[in-house]
Amino acid sequence: ETKYRPVVPVALPDRTWPNQVITHPPIWLSTDLRDGNQALIEPMSVERKLRIFELLVAIGFKEIEVAFPAASQTDFEFVRKLIEEERIPEDVTIQVLTQAREDLIRRTFEALQGAARAIVHVYNATSPLFRRVVFQRERQRTIELAVTAARLMRSLAAAHPETEWRFQYSPETFTATELDFARDICNAVLTVWQPTLERKAIINLPATVEVATPNIFADQVEWMHRHLAYREQVVLSVHNHNDRGSGIGAAELAQMAGADRVEGCLFGNGERTGNVDLVTLALNLYTQGIHPGLDFSRINEVARTVEECTQLPIHPRHPYVGDLVFTAFSGSHQDAIRKGLAAQQPGTPWEVPYLPLDPTDVGRTYESVVRVNSQSGKGGIAFLLEQDYQLSLPRRLQIEFSRVVQQAMDEQGREMTSADLWQLFEQEYLQA
Ligand code: KIV
Ligand code: ZN
Repeated sequence: ETKYRPVVPVALPDRTWPNQVITHPPIWLSTDLRDGNQALIEPMSVERKLRIFELLVAIGFKEIEVAFPAASQTDFEFVRKLIEEERIPEDVTIQVLTQAREDLIRRTFEALQGAARAIVHVYNATSPLFRRVVFQRERQRTIELAVTAARLMRSLAAAHPETEWRFQYSPETFTATELDFARDICNAVLTVWQPTLERKAIINLPATVEVATPNIFADQVEWMHRHLAYREQVVLSVHNHNDRGSGIGAAELAQMAGADRVEGCLFGNGERTGNVDLVTLALNLYTQGIHPGLDFSRINEVARTVEECTQLPIHPRHPYVGDLVFTAFSGSHQDAIRKGLAAQQPGTPWEVPYLPLDPTDVGRTYESVVRVNSQSGKGGIAFLLEQDYQLSLPRRLQIEFSRVVQQAMDEQGREMTSADLWQLFEQEYLQA
C-alpha cells in the first residue's frame, strides 16, 4: 500500500505508432527564454536573454519562445527590444506565451506590435485536478475559457494585419487530462481559429508533469493525432518535462506516434527536473545518420554561454556535452578506443568502441578522449604519450611504465595529464 495511485491506463486499442523509427527531425522550438528562464533562481536580464537568443539563432532554431510578456516587465521589454531593434532574422519566428485571460492576451498583443511574424501561444490547465481544485470550473466552462481566448486572439490579430500571426494552444496538464476532453477542447479552439494549410495552427501537448512511462505518453499523442479535427492544418507539438527522467524517450516515442514538433530547452533546463533536452534529442538523431538541422559543432561554446547566462552548471556526465563524456578511465576501454581510433578510416561510418559520436563533430578533441587515473591501464598511458609526444612504447615497456604510473598516482591520488606522464617517463628512463 502506498499513498500514490497507479497510473490510470489509457485504453488505446488502436495503437500503431505510425512511424516505427524516426526518419526526419521534428520542427524544433526552443523555450529556453521562457520555460527555461522562468525556472531560474535568478531569471535572465534583457542582456542575457539577448545573448541566448543570438546563440539559438546561430544554432539554427527557426522558432523560439522568447517570453511571457504579460507576466514580466523584463519579458515585455525584451520582446520590444527584439522587434524595435530588428534583431529577428527573416527566417526566424518568435513565440510568446499567455494565459487564457483577456487582460493578459491584450498585453501580449501590445508587446508584439510591429512584429513581422509571431506565434501567440495560449494555454489553460485542463486536468480534472486543476478543474476541481484550482479553478472550480467544470468541463464546459473550461472549454468556454479557451474558446473565449481563441476568439479574442483572432480579433486582435485581424486588427493588426501587418503581422503574420500564427496561433498555438496548449491544454496544460495534458498528460493528466481525459483524452476525450483534451480532444474536445483542442477541437473547439481549432474551430474558432479555422487553420489552413498555408497558416497552420499549433496544438501543443504538454507533459507538464511527467506521470507515466514514455509509451503511455506516446499512446496519448497518437490518440490525439488520430482524433484532432483539421489534422492536416495542424502542427502537432509536444512539450516534455522530465519528472521521471524519461523526457527524452517520451519525446522520441511521441515523434513515432505522430508528433511533428518538439519544444524543449538546451541541456534540459526548465521547471523542476527540466524541459526535455533539445541537444540530446538532436545529437541522438545525428548519431543515427539524420541531420537534426541544428548546429552543435562547437558544443563547448554553446555550453559555456548557457552556463554563464543561466548560472547553472552542466553535469560532467551530461550526454554529448559533459566534461567527462569523451573520456575513458578504465584500461580496457582505453585500449579499445585506441585501437578503434587507429582503425577508423576517413570518410567511413564511425565505428569506435565506447564512443557513440566522433568528438570532433561537436568540436571536442581527441586529447580529451583518454584520461589517466588509478583505474587506467597501459593502453591510456601509451595512447597519451604517443598522441602528445610521438613516443611509441614497445609493449613490454608499456607494462613496466604503467606500474610506475600506478605507483605515482597512488602516492599523489590524482589524475595524470600527458605532461605529467612525460615528466615521469623522463625521470624514470631518460635522466638516469
Ligand atoms: O509545461 C507546460 O505545461 C507549459 C505550458 C505553458 C505549455 O510550459
Ligand atoms: Zn513547460
